[in-house]
Amino acid sequence: MRHHIRWTGDTLELLDQRRLPHEVVDVVCRDAAETADAIRDMVVRGAPAIGITAAYGLALEARRGGDLAAAHERLMASRPTAVNLRWALERLADVPAGELEAEAVAIHEEDVGINQAMGEVGASLIPSGANVYHHCNTGALATGGWGTALGVVRSLAAAGKRPHVYVGETRPYLQGARLTAWELLEEGIDHTLVCDSVAASVMPRCEAVLVGCDRVAANGDVANKIGTLGLAILAKHYGVPFYVCMPMSTLDQKAPTGADIPIEERSAAEVRGFGDVVWASESPIANPAFDITPAALVTAWVTEEGLWTPPDGA
Ligand code: MRU
Repeated sequence: MRHHIRWTGDTLELLDQRRLPHEVVDVVCRDAAETADAIRDMVVRGAPAIGITAAYGLALEARRGGDLAAAHERLMASRPTAVNLRWALERLADVPAGELEAEAVAIHEEDVGINQAMGEVGASLIPSGANVYHHCNTGALATGGWGTALGVVRSLAAAGKRPHVYVGETRPYLQGARLTAWELLEEGIDHTLVCDSVAASVMPRCEAVLVGCDRVAANGDVANKIGTLGLAILAKHYGVPFYVCMPMSTLDQKAPTGADIPIEERSAAEVRGFGDVVWASESPIANPAFDITPAALVTAWVTEEGLWTPPDGA
């Protein structure tokens, strides 16, 4: 896949994920403010990708001799749930201004290796020829490259294990339909796009559910794209393993449980329609972007270091 986060030295070029799959165009960021806007407006999204982008945003600000404390604050506030943003900015906190660029590049490059290691761990859990259900977009686009849950799918395919993916469309923002299906088409990996409401019907045919995460609390509760909780409940009902693919940077030891994770509420316009098309009237709308899946519904947390278990977990 073409690079979706590209550091040129003077600018940061982001593949505009709002316009995929129909248009492949970039947004260029020149400072931290433009980078924070790109994160907030979903030009780039997905927890690890947001962290990498924020790191480059700080590096951009350092290059132009800007106010790094203000840049840090602005980037940190751009989206509230994905903890990778905080993780990346904390990692950069004590780095001298002249070394921020090299550290941002290191964060980006390390992420690809982390995903590939996680992919190997996850692929070892899933049999050949499996049907897997996938939610949102956790692929190359959501990370530095390769992907977390979709990275496991890539690793399965690379190992010749011929996975078939049920791609949940992921209302309201359609990351599954627009982004995951596009990535799988590009890779030539067998998949079927389904409406979210089809999940219960296909779940009995699945060997695994694979999802990513935006923040995992110390007790293992998982914040991920809205709809994840429903899939976990379905998986439990049908006895299907429910795997959360979690880079260690997504574990928040400062949040004791899922109740301590802030949930982003997004605009009503995302539910009322899409783009210029509006299909709902003026009813009050709730649009929480994430939900919390209790640790008890998770079969395993797949990380780059192997399987992780919460300290008090079975
Ligand atoms: O709102 P988004 O598109 O940023 O949400 C993304 C997700 O929920 C992903 O599942 C999560 O970030 C993991 S990405 C590897």
